[in-house]
Amino acid sequence: MTTIIKNGTLITASETYQADILIEGEQISLIGQDLSHSNAELIDASGLLVLPGGVDPHVHLDLPMFDTVSSDDHYTGGKAAAFGGTTTVIDFVPQDEGTLADNIARWRAKADPLASVDFGFHMNITRFNQDVAREIFSLPDLGITSLKVFTAYNQRLRLSDGEIFRVMRLARSAGILTMVHAENGDVIDILVDEALAAGNTAPIFHAKTRPAWGAVEASLRAAALAGQAGDAPLYLVHMNTAGEVNQLVYAREHGLKMMGETCPQYLFFTEEDLRREDGAKWVCSPPMRKPIDNQRLWKGVEEKTIQVIATDHCPFFYDGTTPVVYEGQPVAIPGKELGRDNFTKIPNGLPGLGDRMPIMWTEGVGRGHITPNQFVAMHCTNPAKIFGLYPQKGSLVPGADADIALWDPNKELTYGVNVAHHRTDYNLYEDWQLRGFPVMVFLRGQKIVDGENWYGKPGGGRYLNRNEGEILT
Ligand code: URP
Ligand code: ZN
Ligand code: ZN
Repeated sequence: MTTIIKNGTLITASETYQADILIEGEQISLIGQDLSHSNAELIDASGLLVLPGGVDPHVHLDLPMFDTVSSDDHYTGGKAAAFGGTTTVIDFVPQDEGTLADNIARWRAKADPLASVDFGFHMNITRFNQDVAREIFSLPDLGITSLKVFTAYNQRLRLSDGEIFRVMRLARSAGILTMVHAENGDVIDILVDEALAAGNTAPIFHAKTRPAWGAVEASLRAAALAGQAGDAPLYLVHMNTAGEVNQLVYAREHGLKMMGETCPQYLFFTEEDLRREDGAKWVCSPPMRKPIDNQRLWKGVEEKTIQVIATDHCPFFYDGTTPVVYEGQPVAIPGKELGRDNFTKIPNGLPGLGDRMPIMWTEGVGRGHITPNQFVAMHCTNPAKIFGLYPQKGSLVPGADADIALWDPNKELTYGVNVAHHRTDYNLYEDWQLRGFPVMVFLRGQKIVDGENWYGKPGGGRYLNRNEGEILT
């Protein structure tokens, strides 16, 4: 299949220019002026922007949690991603029974037949022993060059500081990036027990029992552990507090290889949203914070201290007892109602995968926080570089996968659950007015989105064996 995208304006992480793109098979083969080919399909992109397909490096698809499961699987999540301009996602493999390889094989068996966009995996390390230590070295052979550790979720996911230090040292020598979920698990457990004993069961207590100081302290602790682990590279996931941005600056000023992501929800919402009647919709971990945190995170984005906008997409139904119609079929999956009487039983997580690029274009580029080139850097190129996918993904260069979003910067629409394609019953950005939206999306040269039409399919996405990533500081 040969395609020429003509007359578009290419936006890369560093340049904006007019050119045609020749796609042959799955790759971009040429970029230049007035390109022609004897039997190519011509796509006229006059008036449109041409962006690399987005890379969302933080999603949880089909993730079991609290007697239910996140409501997008690798097909439905990929479809929502594509409609929002994202063509690559990186999901997390939980460390359940068996070896790391067993867990990765089980997650591949779920994802491979369903994936509708390209995907990679991070490995969660939530149980540590000598066998795990040995196995960390074989993760790159399985295409996995990043792992995640937690300083919270005691008795479930958390490692001790000593174990995190060991993991970081091993990861560094194996060419693997350590990602950290930074909160203080001990303090959270005490505050949760106290809240429940006092009968404080409403969603707001989700935020009240996970204080911002815990995130600040744990991010500095992680940075200090990385420093002591021989300057292990570190990536702070879902940054949500002003103090974390300051810790990122501090760590870099002291020579550490620390990088960070935030997610749109931490830029736009606060813990006050948890007080709404439907506050359970906003329950995620870490929680949203205060306006001052939104502002500092925005500044971190503007100043490029924060390198990546991810989503932590982990959707649940608000009312999982009432079906929605998805691809013509009624679907209901238990969700936030599980915690109607107790905030600790509300499944943690939000939809966001399809929202990320359109929302950030309108609110980030449209309001002058970031340039279009910075937008591409943060949503496409930087995550591809950090997670070892560049230049195959996140770039518009000959030889790269032809993952391309044609973006109409003048398209205006009212956004919400009926526009987003997540398999859930709500959207955090309901009724937001957007200007700028992807109108056509290609995955490795195949058109998978054209306006409202979907041409992707289960299994159309491919597993990505990732290389060692770059350190962007
Ligand atoms: O609430 C969230 N974000 N759930 C996903 C788990 C995590 O820590 O990223
Ligand atoms: Zn996390
Ligand atoms: Zn997450």
